[in-house]
Amino acid sequence: MAPKLRILSPKRNKRLQTGWEGFFPYYAGFPELFARELLQSAKLQSGAVILDPWNGSGTTTYAASSLGLTSVGIDLNPAMIIVARARLLPPSEADHLQPLAATIVSHAHSALPTLHPNDALLCWFKPSAASFIRGIEQNIRRSLVGSMTKSPEGVHLDRISGTAATLYVALFAVCRKLVAPFRSSNPTWLRIPKQTEARIAVSRQTVARCFEENVRDMSAALASKFDADTPRAGECEINLSDTVSMKLDPGSVDFVLTSPPYCTRIDYTAATRIELAVLGPLLSTDARALGKQMIGSTQVPGISIDIDEKWGKTCARFLETLQKHPSKASGGYYYRTHLDYFDKMSRSIGRMSEALKPGSRAVLVVQDSYYKDVHNDLPKIISEIAGRHGLSLKRREDFHLRSMSDINPGRQSYKRPSGATESVLCFAK
Ligand SMILES: C[S@@+](CC[C@H](N)C(=O)[O-])C[C@H]1O[C@@H](n2cnc3c(N)ncnc32)[C@H](O)[C@@H]1O
Repeated sequence: MAPKLRILSPKRNKRLQTGWEGFFPYYAGFPELFARELLQSAKLQSGAVILDPWNGSGTTTYAASSLGLTSVGIDLNPAMIIVARARLLPPSEADHLQPLAATIVSHAHSALPTLHPNDALLCWFKPSAASFIRGIEQNIRRSLVGSMTKSPEGVHLDRISGTAATLYVALFAVCRKLVAPFRSSNPTWLRIPKQTEARIAVSRQTVARCFEENVRDMSAALASKFDADTPRAGECEINLSDTVSMKLDPGSVDFVLTSPPYCTRIDYTAATRIELAVLGPLLSTDARALGKQMIGSTQVPGISIDIDEKWGKTCARFLETLQKHPSKASGGYYYRTHLDYFDKMSRSIGRMSEALKPGSRAVLVVQDSYYKDVHNDLPKIISEIAGRHGLSLKRREDFHLRSMSDINPGRQSYKRPSGATESVLCFAK
């Protein structure tokens, strides 16, 4: 019999994110302790492969790697690929970070790049500030993004070194701090100022100091993680890929731990707008096209989609109620974006299931939500979809939480319970 899984609350707890962990905040992430306990309790054989197809900030791959387990993390958002790779940087690299940051800053001071007029940094920063930030970025790229990372199709973000990724994360944090005036209570939203005068002016010295301080703090936090008794880090691959079309060898995965994108009209690319702006010269797709490709996209799909019987009865009932809802655009825009969500989700779960070995397990953390006053019982829907793809639900643990859907402005106008239920669904193939 498979060992019983230890399931802690998957609710994000900022207080637990201290030290090195504190540098990888992600509103959509689950806690490292949740992932670590769960993976440890699975008692996987050495050489077993763990997959997180929606790896986000890389909590699963980080926990697996620190337990000495092999893992593969996938995400479609380039910013999250960088974050997940940085998180894996070994403590032995801590000493190199500060001298590298000092050299990068000094090169940025000596030659400022000419900004492209469409540089996305200009959405929030005045030209002189944007140009210095780009200068730091350009120097990270020139000195640390090696030829291995480049090909005729562009830069392979998933091959970027942990050191380069860490310096990018330090620069992300500088920009996040500086654009704080454009944030609202919704963690996924970053406003772009309409008036150019409202854009941020900041001196080069301030940007440089902030960057070097971040690197110093990251280096100290990383160094303090060193523990001679820690097992050798497990091998890990972080891949930039779309789960709808991901290519994984059939039967190559021993365990899945993941949390699929929410169905609450969250644009995962909007939440990382500033990070994507920093990464601009490394990206081959623009943020809008990327947003459309995401599961949970707020853009209407370009193709017509029909309900598939693989989505199950609960999903069909939910979509029917949504389509008939009297509120504006329910039968049009909202219906079509929900069809897009379930279509992508079902195809992705199909691919994930094919990659799993017979007898292996998959744990999915899924949150329910409301469309106006209509309950979207996503844990049940995902269980039914997974069932149609050969995964049977063996256990379900529910946790109540204050959720993203509470932040949604429509909440007050409709009668519905506050918060959301986050379910940990355990499947077996
Ligand atoms: C709920 S978050 C996962 C958070 C993760 N468990 C953590 O601890 O950081 C879902 C992730 O799915 C990614 N995503 C959305 N659509 C995707 C797609 N089609 N293919 C791959 N990843 C996708 C988003 O970028 C987001 O990072």
